[in-house]
Amino acid sequence: MKVLVIGGAGYIGSHVVKALRRAGHEPVVFDNLSSGQRRNLFPGVELIVGDIQKPEEIGAAFARGFDAAVHLAAFKAVGESMAEPEKYSVNNISGTINILNAAVAAGCLRLAFSSTAAVFGSPTYVPIDEAHPTVPENYYGFTKLEIERILGWYDRLKGLKYAALRYFNAAGYDPDGEILGLERNPQNLLPIIMEVASGWRDELQIFGDDYDTRDGTCIRDYVHVSDLADAHVKALERIERTGESLTVNLGSERGISVAEMLAVARRVTGRPIQARAVGRRAGDPAACYATSARARELLGWEATRSDVDTLVSSTWRVYGHYGPDGKEAAR
Ligand code: UD1
Repeated sequence: MKVLVIGGAGYIGSHVVKALRRAGHEPVVFDNLSSGQRRNLFPGVELIVGDIQKPEEIGAAFARGFDAAVHLAAFKAVGESMAEPEKYSVNNISGTINILNAAVAAGCLRLAFSSTAAVFGSPTYVPIDEAHPTVPENYYGFTKLEIERILGWYDRLKGLKYAALRYFNAAGYDPDGEILGLERNPQNLLPIIMEVASGWRDELQIFGDDYDTRDGTCIRDYVHVSDLADAHVKALERIERTGESLTVNLGSERGISVAEMLAVARRVTGRPIQARAVGRRAGDPAACYATSARARELLGWEATRSDVDTLVSSTWRVYGHYGPDGKEAAR
């Protein structure tokens, strides 16, 4: 399939592009490079620089003719979404509507969409399956849920077949070491730990050590980005084969605590990694992890690289490409 990967220069998108290429598909990247980076581009893959907020730009891209698309162009910082919902409305929701209208106009009726575990809000039970109530507790999660609903309508009204892929906590880097772009100002746990290990940050603040969990710190389901990437390929291939839309959770099904992630990072990096427990972060559930039984059944997908050691070591290897004091210069 010829696949337009919107947001293909970003962290997850670059891994999706690699997975598509390895499976014999032809990805073309569409990205405005606001957080995506040229250095993330897979060799030989074309980049169209454009913005989903400009209907004419995304329209021109789709008009070139694609069999399918992957949509990963979104803002994803939970805290920011609560402070600046306007940005999330325009980019995540309006931007997606521009994409869907352009896709439909060009007859591209297969789409894999990056959704999130944030659509569920605080778990009322774990492991979380697809039937779990969707009550997002932040505006970021709301935008993703709203888009899932719009996708449902475009399926009914326009025959657009989609895969809503609800990622749990994406982490890790290409185990082959071919994708090297780091996110700027990371907000997520593992990159923050890596920045402390690299000497770029003084300490990790552990958001709460008094939760009702095995060691008092929060438990999450970290899933390797290359495993996530494979799910996009399998989802598009299934849509092509069956003509059916689907919504699936993508998690490793293993809950890892903040303290456990930190301990593995100390061992793998050999660095002390200063850490200090501070107060709880608003809106953090104690434990959140998935069952991916439906992804297994529908896609034949399994997380095979999502053990903590692979998550940490594949990430640490990328940080090794950046000088100890050359953080900004190297980027
Ligand atoms: C959230 C979303 C997730 C989304 C992700 C994107 C929810 C329920 N989850 O995940 O769907 O894909 O953001 O960014 O909305 N932590 C620390 N110190 C830090 C940073 C994090 O202790 O400096 C802890 C957090 O309290 C949490 C864990 O590490 O327990 C992971 O946090 P984070 O990486 O921010 O992701 P989530 O908030 O779990």
